[in-house]
Amino acid sequence: MRGKNIIIGICGGIAAYKTPQLVRLLKKRGANVKVALTEGGARFVSELALATVSEEPVYGRIFPPLGTEKMDFTRHISLGEWADALVIAPATANTLARLSAGLCDDMLSALFITLRPDKPVLIFPAMDGQMFLSPSVQRNIATLAAQGCMVINPESGELASGQCGVGRMPEPEAILAILEECLHSAKASSPLFGKTVVVTAGPTREKIDGVRFISNYSSGKMGFAIARAAAKRGAIVKLIAGPVHLSSPPDVERLDVESTAEMYAAAEGFFDSCDLFIGAAAVSDYRPASPCKGKMKKDDEQIELTLIKNPDILAAFGLQKSPCQLAIGFALETQNGLDNARKKLAEKNLDLIAFNFFDHKTSGFNVDTNILTLIESDGKTTELPLLTKDGAAEKLLDAIEQLCLKNAIKP
Ligand code: CTP
Repeated sequence: MRGKNIIIGICGGIAAYKTPQLVRLLKKRGANVKVALTEGGARFVSELALATVSEEPVYGRIFPPLGTEKMDFTRHISLGEWADALVIAPATANTLARLSAGLCDDMLSALFITLRPDKPVLIFPAMDGQMFLSPSVQRNIATLAAQGCMVINPESGELASGQCGVGRMPEPEAILAILEECLHSAKASSPLFGKTVVVTAGPTREKIDGVRFISNYSSGKMGFAIARAAAKRGAIVKLIAGPVHLSSPPDVERLDVESTAEMYAAAEGFFDSCDLFIGAAAVSDYRPASPCKGKMKKDDEQIELTLIKNPDILAAFGLQKSPCQLAIGFALETQNGLDNARKKLAEKNLDLIAFNFFDHKTSGFNVDTNILTLIESDGKTTELPLLTKDGAAEKLLDAIEQLCLKNAIKP
């Protein structure tokens, strides 16, 4: 579960009192947990307990009260993008009805609607036995199952009413085991499962002298988001990172480098063995021809710095790759974006290039969002909307998965 993003939806049933334990178990396994609590759920388990064990704010209403919280009216979308899985436990008859009808008047039901269809949704109904067996509840369960949700039948045993029957929510340990199995099989179904993916990320630095360098503003966030997303889909990820201030994504092998020459050498080591090469680094195109060893003194009024061209890492891979390998690049452009991106796609023999719109504010270096246009070698062009870098990475990998299927790359 390490690094997995899990949302627990909690509804108004007595079994809700067990959910802080479920959150704790997930956290102990290394998962990141956020809780969406319905109004009824909040009557049975306290928001404070859930916030404490999850170490996150609890999401309830879809709109924050005006003026009392940071106004973010699209949290239901960013939560859905963030999640690797949604677990609804306990799911009441009321919530089952609301979800199957498509209502979205609280955070749980709204984020349920925004979830991508490939993200697992596990629903654990828990209620009185007669309620559970009623035609309306069964009809709603059938609707949700037909939509791809995994509905886990409640267990039999003593119920809150004092009667015995079907309706009990499984214990948190059992819910965790079902979730683990489900995530494992979801991962195994990705075409990226078991593939070796090399990602370059961040800037490179070229020494001018012993204490100064040429570089750029790249934060490495986009490359790290891609590495994280690929690892989640079961790829074996080698992340070659220039100097960045980011912690390593889970299940990723990271190689830290500084200069373009170092990045090239690290990448070249994987040229033959990798299945996919994704160049997300903002590589310095030039380096000082003769960097000084120590610190340069400011003795002269004017100095000239001679720069020589660095090798193009992505082009080197693209031009020597075998037909069963894929090369993916980025094109950061400030003018003639699409035309320049298409030129790079052809010149570097890429299978896909992500044209990166650059405007300093929403897209480009050092921001958390991005606007990409994906251009494939057959000309197919897909404009993505403004997304978080994690969201953009997922969309990029969706497109890459399709390319993998098309190219039937080697197992
Ligand atoms: N790239 C690379 N090695 C280089 C330069 C670029 O691997 N020496 C990769 C980048 O990681 C990116 C793609 O090539 O995936 C395009 O990079 P970009 O900076 O947009 O363009 P350049 O090819 O450097 O061309 P220009 O700077 O003239 O736009």
